[in-house]
Amino acid sequence: MGVLIKGGRIVTATDDYCADIYCENESISRIEPEIDPASLGADTEIFDATGKVIFPGFIDPHVHIHLPFMGTNACDDYESASKAALAGGTTTLIEMICPGPDDEPMSAFNEWNDKAAPLAAVDYTFHMSVVRFDALAREQLQAIVAEHGIASFKVFLAYKGALDLSDEDLFSLLTLAKQLGVIVTAHCENAQAIDAMQKRLLDEGKTGPEWHEPSRPVSVEADGVTHLATMAELTGAHIYIVHTSCEPAVRAAMDAKLRGVNIWVEAVTPHLVLDKTYAELPGFEGAKFVMSPPLRDSQHQDALWGALAGGIISTIGTDHAPFNFKGQKNMGTDAFTKIPNGIPSVQERPQLIYTHGVCAGRIDLHKFVSSCSTQAARIFGMYPKKGDIRPGSDADIVIWDPAYEGTLSVETSHSAIDYNGYEGWPIKGRAAAVLVRGQVQSRNGEFVGTIGRGKLVRRKPTHF
Ligand code: URP
Ligand code: ZN
Ligand code: ZN
Repeated sequence: MGVLIKGGRIVTATDDYCADIYCENESISRIEPEIDPASLGADTEIFDATGKVIFPGFIDPHVHIHLPFMGTNACDDYESASKAALAGGTTTLIEMICPGPDDEPMSAFNEWNDKAAPLAAVDYTFHMSVVRFDALAREQLQAIVAEHGIASFKVFLAYKGALDLSDEDLFSLLTLAKQLGVIVTAHCENAQAIDAMQKRLLDEGKTGPEWHEPSRPVSVEADGVTHLATMAELTGAHIYIVHTSCEPAVRAAMDAKLRGVNIWVEAVTPHLVLDKTYAELPGFEGAKFVMSPPLRDSQHQDALWGALAGGIISTIGTDHAPFNFKGQKNMGTDAFTKIPNGIPSVQERPQLIYTHGVCAGRIDLHKFVSSCSTQAARIFGMYPKKGDIRPGSDADIVIWDPAYEGTLSVETSHSAIDYNGYEGWPIKGRAAAVLVRGQVQSRNGEFVGTIGRGKLVRRKPTHF
C-alpha cells in the first residue's frame, strides 16, 4: 500500500517548497507539485497535510536505552524508548553500546542488538564504545564494523575506573579508527581531575546534587576536548565531541578545527534549555537534573545556540539516559557522586528545540532540520537514505503541526521514567503523524504502529 501526503510545505536542511509526496515500498518515490490520487492504487493512504510542515524523520545521534551504569540500569527498553522517540518525530536512534572493561566487544554488540531487534519501532544503529583496547578488541571491532555496519566508535575520557580509556589505548584505537574510516565519538572530561575534585568536595561535607557541577567545571571539559583533539591530530582520526555543554569546550573544538583536526560538535537538549539552577533545587529535587557534563550557568546556553546558528555545532542529540527519581536517583542522597547521571528527552527534543530554537528566533527551520536530522545522517554514514526528503530516500517523514500548543508532562511521556525534567513546560508544534519507512507509527503523540518494525541501519565508514 502506498502513502500520499498532499498539500504540505516540505522543509529540509536546504529547501522549502510546497509539493505532494508519494511513498511506496518503504521509500519516497515521487515528489511533484500535484499528484492526482486517481493515478494511484485504490488502497493508497492519503494524508491531507494542508497547513502542516513536512520534515525528514528526526535522528537522535546520542541515546542510552540499555545502559548498565553507576550500579544500576537505565529504565527504558526499546519499546518505551521507541514510542517516546516516535511521539516527538524521531525515526532513527543511535544508541551507545557501553560494555564494561571486562566485556568482549562482540558479545556486547550482540547483547545490545538482541535487546533492540524485537522491540524497536524506529530504525536504529549503534556507536560502539571501547573501554579496553587489546588484540582481541582490535579483531572484534574490525568485525563489528565490517559485518554489522557499525561505522562509529565511542570513547569516554570521563568516569575514572569505570569507562575511561588510557591514553595508550586511546592512541591505538584512534589509529585503528583512521585505518577503518570510522569516526570516534567522545565524552570529553578529564577523569582524573574530576576524581580529585569529587574527593575534595565530599571531604568538605559537600554532598548534595548542587556540588555535581563544581566537581567538573567548564575547564575540565575544555581540557578533555583539547586532549582528544591532540590525539586526533597525532593519529589523523576523525572525532565527534558529544554533549558539549559550555563555551570553553566549544572554543577548544574550534581551535582544533582551525589546526585542521577533523572534528564535529554535538549539543544535547538539556544543555540548551536548562541551567545549573535546576541541579540546585532544594530537597534533593536537583538530583533529577544531574548529568555529565553538568548543567551550566545560563550564559553558556547563548554560546551553544550561537554556535549552532553559526555552524560550529552540527547536531542536537538528547543523551537520553533515564533513571527513576525513586529507587535510582535517590541512591545518591548521601553523596552526589552516587546519583546516576542522566536527563532524558528522547520524546521532548523536537518540541523543545522547535519552541526554544525556531519560535524563539535562535535558529531557522533549516537549521532545525539539519541539526536534528540531516547532519547526523551525513556524519554517521546514513545520508541520503536518512535525513532528507528526496526520491529514493527512506520514507521516514514527520508531518508537523506548527499551530499546536501544549504542555510537557510525565503523564504524556512514553518513556518508562517516573519524572519529566520539563514538567509543565509550554511547547509549540507537534508531530501530527510520523512515518518510518512508509508506515505510520505515531499520530498526535500516540503510538499506532508495529513493535519490532525497526531495523538495524547498516552504515559504511566514510571518515578516511
Ligand atoms: O549524564 C550522562 N551523560 N549520562 C549518560 C552517560 C554519558 O556520559 O553519556
Ligand atoms: Zn557522556
Ligand atoms: Zn551519553
